Amino acid sequence: MEKRNIIIDCDPGHDDVMAVLLALANQDRLNILGVTTVAGNQTLEKVTNNIRKLYTYLGISTPIASGAAKPIIRELITAGEVHGKSGLDGWDFPEPSIELDSTNAITFMYEKIIEAEGKVTLVPMGPLTNIGLLIATFPEVKEKIDLISLMGGSIYAGNVTPYAEFNIYVDPEAAKIVFDSGIPIVMSGLEVTHKAAITEEEIEFLKQTDGKVTKMCGELLYSYTRYHHSEGYTSYPLHDVCSVMYLLHPDIFEYKDLQVEIDTSNGIHRGRTAADNRQWAKYERPNTRVLIDVNREKFIDILFKAFAKLNEMCK
Ligand code: RIB
Ligand code: CA
Repeated sequence: MEKRNIIIDCDPGHDDVMAVLLALANQDRLNILGVTTVAGNQTLEKVTNNIRKLYTYLGISTPIASGAAKPIIRELITAGEVHGKSGLDGWDFPEPSIELDSTNAITFMYEKIIEAEGKVTLVPMGPLTNIGLLIATFPEVKEKIDLISLMGGSIYAGNVTPYAEFNIYVDPEAAKIVFDSGIPIVMSGLEVTHKAAITEEEIEFLKQTDGKVTKMCGELLYSYTRYHHSEGYTSYPLHDVCSVMYLLHPDIFEYKDLQVEIDTSNGIHRGRTAADNRQWAKYERPNTRVLIDVNREKFIDILFKAFAKLNEMCK
């Protein structure tokens, strides 16, 4: 089977790391052209340091480039309360020895896409600043991008406001460029990511293993879920993993094809991914495949098999 060319754009971030690990374990199917970083969960410096530390610990890597340090127009909002001061609290990583290939993710992505043999799938899982700037700066790349499989948005309820999810809320203008681009989008919003959740018992299972990667994941996920635990959650959404999992196992998801518009106002609807979800609504061309459900047991089983495979790959 031909490999799918992908570029992951992330703000690691615990769930970002789980998504990157899933991709690294599936390089027989995914050709990871690069991983780019964007300010979101923490500052650009911290999230970039985190991907470098992860790669140093794993002993494997991909090309990496850092991107935007703030949204296109608005001020940066981070999520230290969830991901910790470092943006990846919970594991004692070594100091990073993996260097960046570029500090300009926009040009880095442009060159990787233009040079690639065949089409490229973008997999953003943080604020869409880098992707919006890429499309605005080099519109010609659109014809070489076959799909954007992103984590972000919500057609029902938000997690930052009643309506907006964090990645879209942080940079609504960038999200509008992406959703209006005409590039096919698969949106892993909160309606599916809250079903793609890990339990305390499953985290404890990972913590108890002695594998290099599985133990790290257990400790990271334990740290990541303390905020949610304090908020009364009993299972914990692995948001970003959905954007990679869909590329590997679309069959475990259910979806609706809808027209999604981004609200860039400054009011209560800022960052809303507004979808016309009426049964009778018919669109000439819905712009977004919105994932709405997932087989959680299969999701966790595939993810845990990927972690176990990386135990061997990263020995
Ligand atoms: O709302 C969840 C999203 O915000 C995830 O991508 C998480 O990593 C944070 O960036
Ligand atoms: Ca993220």
